[in-house]
Amino acid sequence: MKVLVSGGAGYIGSHAAWKLLERGNEVLVLDSLELGHQETIDKFKEKFPGKISFQKLDLKDREAVLAASKEWRDVEAVIHFAAYSQVGESVKAPEKYYRNNVVGTLNLLETLVEKGIKRLVFSSTAATYGMPSVEFITEETETKPINPYGASKLMVERILEDFSLAHGLSSIRLRYFNVAGALKSGEIGEKHDPETHLVPLVLKTALGQRESVTIFGEDYETPDGTCIRDYIHVEDLIDAHLLALDWLSKNTGTDYMNLGTRGGSSVKEIIDLCKKVSGVDFKVEKGERRAGDPPRLVADSSKAKKVLGWEPKRSLEEIIQSAWNWHRKN
Ligand code: UFG
Repeated sequence: MKVLVSGGAGYIGSHAAWKLLERGNEVLVLDSLELGHQETIDKFKEKFPGKISFQKLDLKDREAVLAASKEWRDVEAVIHFAAYSQVGESVKAPEKYYRNNVVGTLNLLETLVEKGIKRLVFSSTAATYGMPSVEFITEETETKPINPYGASKLMVERILEDFSLAHGLSSIRLRYFNVAGALKSGEIGEKHDPETHLVPLVLKTALGQRESVTIFGEDYETPDGTCIRDYIHVEDLIDAHLLALDWLSKNTGTDYMNLGTRGGSSVKEIIDLCKKVSGVDFKVEKGERRAGDPPRLVADSSKAKKVLGWEPKRSLEEIIQSAWNWHRKN
């Protein structure tokens, strides 16, 4: 089966493309290379010759998407990652987020309908929930995004419901919690520019590429005062996408579910574990709270287990260890 992976040169998309190729799928990567990396595509071509094709494409450009779709003849399913994903930036430039994440997606979806491609896995986010005050977030928890990034993803979720009814485009929408880690083999990993995520920032500090780590707020109502998040290994996350594709080959309609581990770790716990795994001590500074950070976001993912048969298998230590291996090499 040939799978189209939009955003396949970025962090999570490249891990999906890799695992699809490893299990024998053919992959067509679409990426504008604005945030994705050409060297990732080169690596795919070197490792999986003949199985991977690439189109440099900006989904905001409807005409370009239509033109590119002439090459999508054998595509049977899509995993759609391409999006902007920086919460802070989305607050400052909402138009950028709605144009890229919503309009760009609509261009893709309309083209899929025209081509008769009927299966899609969508990369959604815990940011659709906003600031829930529950201990464990289930799919029943109210969605009330507090920033344009989360709102843009929720809008696409709604569009997918409508497209399922109107056009028979079936989909699984996966709401990710905090994704981290890298391939165990260390061949691809996380690389953002600028980097804003906790785990890579801490590991870059351990490598001496940054002077210190700043903790954004130590006065939250959590046991150690720092924010709690549910960190999920990128390989576990991609396993859920592969199971979602299997679900779509047997079912129609649309459904959505959380991808997390039911485990919460504080910022301080992550920093301590990074020190342990790297064996490096580094400077940690106290900072102000970052606007829009909920104190605690932890997933109940029992629905993903029930629907897809998915369960995360890798520990927090494996997340940090795999990320550390990759950062050391790169
Ligand atoms: N943090 C620090 N210092 C830093 C960077 C982060 O203390 O230098 C803290 C943050 O305040 C937060 C935690 O570390 O409490 C995790 O922050 P990240 O930026 O790594 O991740 P977020 O939880 O903010 O965001 C992630 C995804 C978003 C998604 C969101 C869903 O990156 O795309 O989860 O809530 F929207």
